[in-house]
This record gives sequence, structure tokens and C-alpha cells, in this order.
Amino acid sequence: MHEATKIIRSTLTRADAGEPLHAGPVFAAPYHAPGDPSAIPYTYARSHNPTWTHLEKSIAQMESGEGYRASALVFASGMAACAAVFGAILRPGDEVVLPSNAYYAARVLAQEYFAKMGVEVRLAPTANNAQAELLEGAKLLWIETPSNPTMDVCDIAALAEAAHKAGALVAVDNTTPTPLGQRPLSLGADFSVASDTKAMTGHSDILLGHVAMRDLELRQKIDQWRTLTGAALGPMEAWLALRSIATLPLRLERSCQNAQRIAEFLTTRPEVSQVLYPGLPTHPGHEIAVKQMQYFGPVLSFVLRDKAAAENFLAKSQLLTDATSFGGITSSAERRARWGGDQIAEGFIRLSAGCENIDDLLADIAQALDAK
Ligand SMILES: Cc1ncc(COP(=O)(O)O)c(C=O)c1O
Repeated sequence: MHEATKIIRSTLTRADAGEPLHAGPVFAAPYHAPGDPSAIPYTYARSHNPTWTHLEKSIAQMESGEGYRASALVFASGMAACAAVFGAILRPGDEVVLPSNAYYAARVLAQEYFAKMGVEVRLAPTANNAQAELLEGAKLLWIETPSNPTMDVCDIAALAEAAHKAGALVAVDNTTPTPLGQRPLSLGADFSVASDTKAMTGHSDILLGHVAMRDLELRQKIDQWRTLTGAALGPMEAWLALRSIATLPLRLERSCQNAQRIAEFLTTRPEVSQVLYPGLPTHPGHEIAVKQMQYFGPVLSFVLRDKAAAENFLAKSQLLTDATSFGGITSSAERRARWGGDQIAEGFIRLSAGCENIDDLLADIAQALDAK
């Protein structure tokens, strides 16, 4: 079966006569659990919940590939998932190699907390596989490709091979493409981590994260971290995620087509000094992206003259919702430098292509660029 069919079917409840196609969320804190707890599937909701189990099976299937079956654990947010990998793996004296342009909260978490607890944090850019230079003695290599918001690309398979030779585990923050767009475990990573707040669920209404892996010992460590820190997802969010994941194949196909068309259009505009999208043949990481991605993702970035030009563009656009985050069915954009923390120009805009009609989007972007 094709991926789209498998994903859609995985969100259905078991076909027992008289049961709904999509069972509702299970709201529980404790479960009936007399006697030996190890003989009972559900005891207390900080550790497990049937609606999580269903969602985890669906995500695990997406993360699985030729010759291996992945397992997945869901978290209350993408950052809770990132923190679980750092927390379960890194100990004082260990070294972690992070992208210097990684999602800023992951970088701050490593530098403000883990570094202060005795973990050495080494930083190198995503582009040109520069992290490969820092692997000696490292415990964990953290990759983010395409990176948010600069859309840099690195070669996951090559870096994973180098990291394993150096004795390091490999985690990929796979938020922008989703596992349907890029499958890190198939490329040799030990962990595929994502904020499913973004394209995976796509409706801009829930926070969610997951960690997927092949190795059961690693799974056990991440699972224990989740239970001990209480990074538990609400059952309603898990259920909404299942509903949303059923349309991931449709949403991703449309939004990535739209992103490609918008990126191509922006390259023709004199007001735009740079367009960053791995789907463009001129992108320095395009060849690697073609090799390792099934979709180039819904996110692109571009640079206008300065802060005023970027603010004017956002104010004049009717169809780009001026908001942070990305991956939703609604196209959105923001002037990213307003947050600080990233090495980007004042006129840098991150745009997330939604599922609207492309002619409407292109007409809106053109008029917003024209407007004075
Ligand atoms: C690449 C990346 N990783 C992790 C996160 C954190 O996800 P969440 O906001 O769901 O905690 C984000 C959020 O923007 C992100 O863009």
C-alpha cells in the first residue's frame, strides 16, 4: 500500500461491529487496576492512555521503513519531546553537537540548562555537514534539516554514519517536513523527534510532540523520562491529532506544492534579495534534499530590504496570517527577527504555505509586494 493509504487507515479504530469508526478520547487519571499492576495495560494516565496508544501506533507506522519497525512516544509539546532526548541521554561530562542555527528553544535549553549541569555543548552550522567536524568523543549529535528558519540542509545519512563511527547517538528534529516528507530513521538516525504542533497536525489548535526510535532500550529510557517528568499529552489533544493526521497526506501534498510555487514566484521579484527553499534548484542543499526528502516541506523564507519593507508586506497581505508557528492549513508569515535569537536580517520573513488556492496566494503576495 502507498503511504497515504496506510496513514489514513491507521487512524481508524478496530473494526468491531457496533463500534464507532473513530472512537472518542479516553479521559482518565487512574484506571481500574486491582492486584499486580504489571498485568494491567493501563493503570495511571501519566504513564499511558489508550488514545495515546492509538496515536503512537499511527506515528510509528509513518516512521517505520524497510527492514525495521519504529515505535513512537507522544509528548505534551515538541519541546517536551526534545527535552526527553536530551534528558534521557545526556549526563554531566557528556558532549552534544547541536546546529548553531537549530530551533532557538532547543539551543537555549541545551546552553542554559544542560551546559550548566556539566554537558559540553558544541555548535556548528547545519549547512555543508559542518557538524561532522565536532563529533569526536560526542554522546549525541542533534540534527535539524531543513533548519528553522534558515532552511539549511545537511546530509542525514552521511552525518549519521560519521556520528556512529565516533560512538555518538543521532537525533533529527524532523518538524518541518514531517515523517511523510522525510524519514530520519530510514536514513540511519536513532531518534526522529518532532513538534507535531506544526504540519503533522496542521490545524493550529494543539501542542504535540513525539520521539520515534527503533531500539527498545532507548524507547524505555525516553518512556521513563516522560513518566517521571510528567510531560504527558492530554487525551483530547491525542484524539484531535488522530483526526488531523488522517488528512496529512492531502495537506502536505497541497501545501508543499504551494510552497514550491511561492518560492519560484518570489525569485522573480526584484524586492526579494534571497529566497530560501530546498525545493529550488539554486538552493545549496537541493541535491541532498532531493536524495533524502519525499516533500520539501511547507516552509520557506525570504528576505526583503529591511524591517519596514517586511512589516509593510505583512500588513498589506490579505491571505498571509501574521502569526508565528507554521505547517497549518492557513498560510501564515512573520518577520522572524522580531523574536531575536537567530542570525538573520531584519527583513527576513518565514512563510508557511497553507492549502489555499495557489492563484489566490500568488495574487495576494504580488499585491503585498507592490503595495507602498
Ligand atoms: C524545529 C522545531 N523544533 C521544535 C519546536 C518546538 O515545538 P513546540 O512548540 O511544539 O514545543 C519547534 C517549534 O516551533 C520547531 O520549529
